[in-house]
Amino acid sequence: MDKKPIGIFDSGVGGLTVFKEIRKRFPYEDIIYFGDTARVPYGPKSRNTVIEYSIQNARFLIQQGAKIIVIACNTSSATAITQLQKLLPIPVLGVIEPGALSAIRVTGNKRIGVIGTEGTIRSKAYSSAISKLDENCNVFSKPCPLFVSLAEEGWEDHEVTKLTIKEYLTSLLQNDIDTLVLGCTHYPILKSAIQQFVGNKITLVDSAEAVTDKLDEILPNRETKEIGKDNFYVSDNEAKFKQIASKILDMEIEKLIKVKLGEGWFLK
Ligand code: DGL
Repeated sequence: MDKKPIGIFDSGVGGLTVFKEIRKRFPYEDIIYFGDTARVPYGPKSRNTVIEYSIQNARFLIQQGAKIIVIACNTSSATAITQLQKLLPIPVLGVIEPGALSAIRVTGNKRIGVIGTEGTIRSKAYSSAISKLDENCNVFSKPCPLFVSLAEEGWEDHEVTKLTIKEYLTSLLQNDIDTLVLGCTHYPILKSAIQQFVGNKITLVDSAEAVTDKLDEILPNRETKEIGKDNFYVSDNEAKFKQIASKILDMEIEKLIKVKLGEGWFLK
């Protein structure tokens, strides 16, 4: 168990915001990251499709030896976590509950905004996780699907991004929220533009730190003090992934392998 890697997956580069936090906190762990760049975005896809993709992604990571799966994707977490937890022989962590918990800790006026993909917002996963933790909280949700493409494009401070933020968030801000959950792992890539628009009275919450805390509770202390290895896999567009990833992670990705659909990782 100790030597096996932590497996992380997302539809693309968004989960790297979670990878970054996990890598920082667990320097001696090996990590495998899978970005399903051939099939991004997951947000507009049907529930069954997201479940199917999530199972395939997790099985691929298990084939690579993962000892635990972190679903670094809110859409998959909101849609497929129950199936993955039932089906897989190893622990599976999602980002919704940790994100909801962080929001509850941060809010003062109990008015929380949640933005995410269409799939995540439609599932109402955040509203129910938040009201399970505190039934007096009011949740105001808004899908912001274009943010995923802007993040995948690396347009974190582009004019188009600023206009899109304004278009999506203006109505949400009329609800007097003091906390805004970035309920999609791609959104922290646009964090400074979002913060600039909403102002500093609103606290932005992303689940990377909270899911890493959860991982800390589960993983036994690693005995070896050898620096952990990173292995990155994608299903398409390696060059673009490398370029955006190096910006997000502030480091060059040395080992990146493209996995072809239907070869091995697709197997049941
Ligand atoms: N980063 C993912 C999420 O957290 C998926 C975005 C997408 O593929 O639409 O929801």
